[in-house]
Amino acid sequence: MRDSRLWSADFIHWRRSKQPAPFWIYAQLMQSLVVVVRMRQRSELTECWKTSAARPDRTGRCNAHNIKQLKRLNQVIFPVSYNDKFYKDVLEVGELAKLAYFNDIAVGAVCCRVDHSQNQKRLYIMTLGCLAPYRRLGIGTKMLNHVLNICEKDGTFDNIYLHVQISNESAIDFYQKFGFEIIETKKNYYKRIEPADAHVLQKSLRSPCAPPTGELQKTE
Ligand SMILES: CC(C)(COP(=O)(O)OP(=O)(O)OC[C@H]1O[C@@H](n2cnc3c(N)ncnc32)[C@H](O)[C@@H]1OP(=O)(O)O)[C@@H](O)C(=O)NCCC(=O)NCCS
Repeated sequence: MRDSRLWSADFIHWRRSKQPAPFWIYAQLMQSLVVVVRMRQRSELTECWKTSAARPDRTGRCNAHNIKQLKRLNQVIFPVSYNDKFYKDVLEVGELAKLAYFNDIAVGAVCCRVDHSQNQKRLYIMTLGCLAPYRRLGIGTKMLNHVLNICEKDGTFDNIYLHVQISNESAIDFYQKFGFEIIETKKNYYKRIEPADAHVLQKSLRSPCAPPTGELQKTE
């Protein structure tokens, strides 16, 4: 490659001569362009890697503008389909329904609802998933931590639970990593998919000595 001082001298000489631009000026410009493009690509890749290793870019609340994105994601990720009421309810739950973005593309979503059953206040994870090419990048963790943080800040939840198809080993491994336990297996829980049985996975949000909220209400 030519010495840059030589290029500068040639350039000054050409400017002074008022001749049409010689070929080497175009060659030099092209070379500089290639260097800039390469540097940009490298920095984008680094950025991508940082994001993928640590976290998705951001999460965003579900609203009327992005509800179709949520529907599309759920159609691709889950073997069951969700009805219009599901999506109508999702619009009402605020922070409990979020899309996860990776480099500004919606690649996952979590949808929960508050549930009062078994005399307890519980958070039910209706759906939590991300597109297959974006798995094992920490996106599921980001979404689950989001809902766990909501429960922790609220402080009145007894537990958090969900249903998982018994064959869904990756999801079972994922939830067990966060302290969820299989507390029950329901026969024929799903209508149109095989296997139809589901595990109920639950994580207690109470310390062993604290009474459940239901009992607190009774004694008040
Ligand atoms: C379950 C699911 C949400 C996990 O999302 P994810 O973004 O891949 O999860 P993460 O990258 O945050 O994984 C966190 C940890 O969970 C565990 N885990 C996740 N997927 C796993 C798999 N396929 N096998 C074993 N362990 C797994 C690992 O310990 C992982 O940590 P590591 O990658 O450092 O080893 C994802 O597989 C998915 O979308 N599945 C389809 C939808 C679904 O079944 N949802 C569950 C029912 S609501």
